[in-house]
Amino acid sequence: MAAPNPFDQQAQIPGVKHIIAVSSGKGGVGKSTVSSHLALALSKKYKVGLLDADIYGPSLPRMLGCLKQKPAITPEQKLIPIERYGIKIMSIGFLIDEAAAVVWRGPMLFKAMDQFLRDVQWGELDFLIVDLPPGTGDVQLSLAQKVPLAGAVIVSTPQNISLIDVKKAVDMFQRLQIPLLGVVENMSYMINPVNQERIQLFPKGELDSYFDSLKVPKLGEVPFNSQVGLGCEAGIPVIESFPQSAEAQEFMQIANKLAAQFTKSNLN
Ligand SMILES: Nc1ncnc2c1ncn2[C@@H]1O[C@H](COP(=O)(O)OP(=O)(O)O)[C@@H](O)[C@H]1O
Ligand SMILES: [Mg+2]
Repeated sequence: MAAPNPFDQQAQIPGVKHIIAVSSGKGGVGKSTVSSHLALALSKKYKVGLLDADIYGPSLPRMLGCLKQKPAITPEQKLIPIERYGIKIMSIGFLIDEAAAVVWRGPMLFKAMDQFLRDVQWGELDFLIVDLPPGTGDVQLSLAQKVPLAGAVIVSTPQNISLIDVKKAVDMFQRLQIPLLGVVENMSYMINPVNQERIQLFPKGELDSYFDSLKVPKLGEVPFNSQVGLGCEAGIPVIESFPQSAEAQEFMQIANKLAAQFTKSNLN
């Protein structure tokens, strides 16, 4: 008998229309920042859930100001996601202490992912955004095996050091036949507060030409702004505190461009 195909276990989450992974080969480029702001921006028009799949370094509870919350459990043993700023959030960070290290390997990770997808009462969602850990490992693979992904959004900073790792993530999604929905260039530049001139924080590498050659659209360029970092620390994202800021507006544009890829088929 042939070995079972792990992708055979793939099943929709009832009520959830589009599952979108936010990924990058690299850590620290802003995946969690983009995931959370993208979810918030989409939630202005759609029903949105946000799954923190960074089992080893969950940052969404802190970034969204719901660190101390504990999900309730229904009589059917389903976890009820934490609601914050109009989005439904689930994270390992709600279940374990912030300073505790998770030392799970393959099988336990697969089990945890399964529970986050199947044993959470997500309800009706237009979009479930999944914030992935860096790299191309077990979490990415188990997500792809368990649910049909609408696609992946890639996050990168401008320089080639980041692009090298991004290419590995792109290769993984291509092998798994998961569509690449677009790229977000984060910390793209900074506006000098004194003279409003643009400062290139990181050297601009071949990010644009690389994604052009793959025909993957650029969803946007988010500037570096210390308000974004402060908002993440304080649990009040700039979309909520400074909705008119250039960064918040850019996240809204990114969300609109992304949602436009789905509106024709299933939304509205
Ligand atoms: N555009 C930005 N401007 C300022 N700080 C940012 C920006 N994007 C991310 N950061 C900060 O950089 C750090 C890393 O971002 P994070 O989203 O945690 O990255 P990742 O999830 O890829 O590891 C965080 O402290 C975050 O607040
Ligand atoms: Mg992260």
